[in-house]
Amino acid sequence: MTQLKVMVLALACALIPAFSHAAGDAAAGKAAFAVCAACHGQNAEGNMAMNAPRLAGQEAWYLRRQLNAFKAGHRGTRPGDTFGMQMRPMTSAVAAPAAVDNLLAYLATLKPAASAVSVQGDVNAGKAAYAVCGACHGQRAEGLEQMGGPGLAQQDDWYLVRSLQNFKKGLRGYAPEDTFGRQMAPMAATLANDAAVNNVVSYIKSLR
Ligand code: HEC
Ligand code: HEC
Repeated sequence: MTQLKVMVLALACALIPAFSHAAGDAAAGKAAFAVCAACHGQNAEGNMAMNAPRLAGQEAWYLRRQLNAFKAGHRGTRPGDTFGMQMRPMTSAVAAPAAVDNLLAYLATLKPAASAVSVQGDVNAGKAAYAVCGACHGQRAEGLEQMGGPGLAQQDDWYLVRSLQNFKKGLRGYAPEDTFGRQMAPMAATLANDAAVNNVVSYIKSLR
């Protein structure tokens, strides 16, 4: 074997763990998504009236982690978390890991238009506040898998606000086993008041 072939082979072996999840059957995932669409929208574009966020464009590893968090009761179990409690029982529709693979394969095919802006904030003040966030979410809020921080720029702005408020109130990131949620909760606490939350979200949306 040439040295190059050995290198290519070594690289291929190193990458295998990244693809350890089965590819998933998008057609089966589409059927499973019918129940989700009632709240999250036909194209997973999010539906503010139903309080359900955009799922299209979100990283598969992050969606999987959130579904597992709801299933395990690390999300959606705190009194006062009305919306998390609405979501939690829905995970039974995709109970088996293969069902989640299929669903994620289908979601990856959806490309809805960007969501409308609903939050008004001071973009410049938000930019200063975002300096600390980029280390885990990426400079353009595109997501950084190695840090566990999901993409934010594609998400509905009203949902970003609610999530930050929920982290601040202890309605997310409360379970001892929720390693990633517990990394995020103190970061939300750096946003002193509602205006600071709206400002950083307005900046994040300006990155799209
Ligand atoms: C009854 C309405 C409803 C249905 C049906 C529903 N969801 Fe949800 N979902 C919600 C709400 C509300 C939230 C927001 C929870 C919060 O604010 O913490 C949510 C949140 C989520 C999240 C977290 C997203 C994030 O970025 O944090 C995922 C993933 C999700 N839903 C997937 C699904 C899937 C998959 C299905 C179908 C099997 C589904 N949902 C069905 C209402 C619903
Ligand atoms: C130390 C790394 C780290 C820093 C710094 C950080 N985050 Fe996070 N953030 C995370 C992780 C990890 C998650 C995923 C939590 C989970 O899995 O439930 C997250 C989740 C979020 C979510 C929820 C998104 C969704 O769709 O559910 C929002 C919103 C968010 N972060 C905003 C911010 C903002 C704004 C800042 C800066 C003030 C910030 N983060 C700083 C690690 C970080």
